[in-house]
Amino acid sequence: MIRFIEDPNERRNISREILEALTEWFEVEESREQYIRESADQPFWAAFENDKPAGFLCLNETGRETVELAVMGVRKENHRNGIGRQLFEAAKTYAVNEGYSFMQVKTVRSGMYEDYDITNEFYKSLGFKELEVIEVIWGEENPCQIYVMSLKNVLDTISARHSYRGKFSSDPVPRKDLETIALAGINAPSGCNKQTTELVIIDDPDVLNNVKSLIDPPVAQSAPAMIVVLTRRINAYRDKCFATQDYSAAIENMLLAIVELGYQSCWYEGHITDDDRICDKIAGVLGVPEGYDVVCILPVGKALDEIKAPAKKTYEERVSFNHFGGK
Ligand SMILES: Cc1cc2nc3c(=O)[nH]c(=O)nc-3n(C[C@H](O)[C@H](O)[C@H](O)COP(=O)(O)O)c2cc1C
Repeated sequence: MIRFIEDPNERRNISREILEALTEWFEVEESREQYIRESADQPFWAAFENDKPAGFLCLNETGRETVELAVMGVRKENHRNGIGRQLFEAAKTYAVNEGYSFMQVKTVRSGMYEDYDITNEFYKSLGFKELEVIEVIWGEENPCQIYVMSLKNVLDTISARHSYRGKFSSDPVPRKDLETIALAGINAPSGCNKQTTELVIIDDPDVLNNVKSLIDPPVAQSAPAMIVVLTRRINAYRDKCFATQDYSAAIENMLLAIVELGYQSCWYEGHITDDDRICDKIAGVLGVPEGYDVVCILPVGKALDEIKAPAKKTYEERVSFNHFGGK
């Protein structure tokens, strides 16, 4: 049974009982006592077996967006029976309801200690992803690695996505994030799996400036990165070309990935494919070969301005059941 513990004394007693039983992992008395002290003020869950505490988990509400899984301990004899997972699910539900976007956990870098490799694998099985952010908090010889997971689900991200045309922060977008976004794009479905969409990611400031200088009237001038979408207009079968559908699916996947990772964007297609054919000039700067068309640019960066939802028709105006207009 999992229970949220309110009383700070009870929190302290439970964390002491469990952590003292896990002496190999929490053998440094000073840090163990620090965990016990701090856990008294944090959201805290305990698992009980026959009324005896079998494990606990406490969060650390450090930031506005990110909550930290601060400590988690389960008695050895209760390992591998789902208690850790249940504790985690209770904490995750709380974090989602509190509006946090991410959960992180700090752990010892994979490959340094066998025990921690098991723990790190457990975090991965819960959905955490390894981040190459190494902080030195336990001494030079024990750099800690951060694992992070998004708490948003795809439906939240769909609702949160809006075209963003405001100013961007100049902070560079890490390559890893740009690659994640591009991967979401190329994972999209395509007619007959022809995969007619290709991408050029621009994060080199010189190339970016060259491309921006072609966009008149200017848009996305402050974006620190951009994804240029290319299509090959080949037939999927007979005279059927699905290139437009293919790149549209890829663009939507990327827009969702962009929002999911905390960035903003806008689908700029009309602007660059008008009569003045900015798209062809961009293709020239990027060395795009014959047979490909540049069809869209997606700026990527952190928003500095407000993200506004445009007015949309009502659900009832656009969706019906069983026949047109049916309720
Ligand atoms: C095919 C297509 C072309 C678009 N081209 C542009 C564009 O050139 N400039 C622009 O500001 N927005 C462009 N948009 C974004 C739309 O204006 C935007 O999606 C629409 O107003 C709805 O707003 P929302 O994205 O916030 O839901 C384009 C969207 C699509 C699907």
